[in-house]
Amino acid sequence: MSGVGSMEPQSDRLAVVPSELLPPRSERRHLLSVRDLDRADVERLLATAKSFALSQERDTKKLPTLRGRLVVNVFFESSTRTSSSFELAAKRLSADTMSIKSSGSSVDKGESLKDTALTLSAYDPDVIVIRHPQIGAPQLVAAVTEAHVVNAGDGKHQHPTQALLDLYTISAALGRLEGAQVAIVGDVLHSRVARSLIQALELVGAGVLLVGPPPLVPAELGEVSYDIDAIRDADVVYVLRMQRERMLEGANYVPSLREYSARWCVTPERLRPGQYVMHPGPMNRGVEIDPRVADSAEALIVDQVRAGLVVRMAVLYDLLTSGRVAVESAFAGIA
Ligand code: CP
Repeated sequence: MSGVGSMEPQSDRLAVVPSELLPPRSERRHLLSVRDLDRADVERLLATAKSFALSQERDTKKLPTLRGRLVVNVFFESSTRTSSSFELAAKRLSADTMSIKSSGSSVDKGESLKDTALTLSAYDPDVIVIRHPQIGAPQLVAAVTEAHVVNAGDGKHQHPTQALLDLYTISAALGRLEGAQVAIVGDVLHSRVARSLIQALELVGAGVLLVGPPPLVPAELGEVSYDIDAIRDADVVYVLRMQRERMLEGANYVPSLREYSARWCVTPERLRPGQYVMHPGPMNRGVEIDPRVADSAEALIVDQVRAGLVVRMAVLYDLLTSGRVAVESAFAGIA
C-alpha cells in the first residue's frame, strides 16, 4: 500500500512533515465474509450502490473515480454473473482490469494458488477478486499479497457480494429490509449463497426460513421447515439450485432429480399472489424453479444481476477510498 501515512517517509518532502500531521496509515481491508461487516457497513454499501445506480442511468456511464487503480479478477471456478459484473464494475469506475481463469493459466501446469497470487502481486494490484473451489482460498491470497481481497465465492463457504446484491434487490422491491421474511428453498447444504445471505439477513433484522428435504437443509443454519407449503408465508422466496459439483460422490441426497422437482420445485401453484421470487443463478429451469415462475413479473432475477454491477462498484469504491468495508475475517491466519 502507499507509504504516505507510513512512519518511514518515502520522499524528502514527507521527511520534513511531522508524523502526527500525516493521515493515519490506511488499514488494508478485505471483504472475505459477511461476518466482516456490521450493519453500518451494509447500510453504507447499499447507499453507495444506490448512488452508482443513478450514475448508470446517464448516457455516459463511466466515472473517473478509480482511474489508475488495478483490479485483478482471478476465477478458478465457472462464473457468468460475478466475473462479468466485477469486470464491468471496475471498468465503469475507470480502473484497469486483468482477468485470469484457471483453464489456460499456469494452474494447468501445476502452479499453486500461492505462487499465482505472488506472481500477480508483482503488478501491484489494488484489489484481487478471487473465486476458488477451496474454502479459505481468498484468506490465503490476502495473507501473501498487499492487495485488498474480495471473496467472489469459496467452495460452499461464503459469497459476500452476492448477499449484498440480494439485500439491495430485496430492499428495492419491498422498500425495507427490517422485518422482511425470506424463505430460502433447496440445496442449502452446499450453498455459499445461502450461508452468506442467512448472515446478511440476520444483520439487517430480516427473518429467514430454510425449506427443503432434510438431507439438504442443515438445522444448525437456522429455522427450518421440511414442508414446501411453508414458503407461502414469506415476502420473498429465494430459490437455490442443486449444486451437484459440490456433492460428495455417491451420496444420495434425494432419490432423483425428478422426485426432487415433484416435491420442491417452486411452481406458480405453490406461491401466493404478490410473493417475490429470487434466484442467484445459474437456474435449472424445471428442476428447482418452474419456467413460469422464472419469467413472471414477480421474479427479481434480472434485477439481481443489475444490482450485482452497482453493488460491486460500491465494494471496489469502498475498499479503495476512506469508507470502511471490512476488517480481516476470522480466517486471516490461514496461509
Ligand atoms: N450467482 C453467481 O455467483 O453466479 P455466477 O456463478 O454466474 O457468478
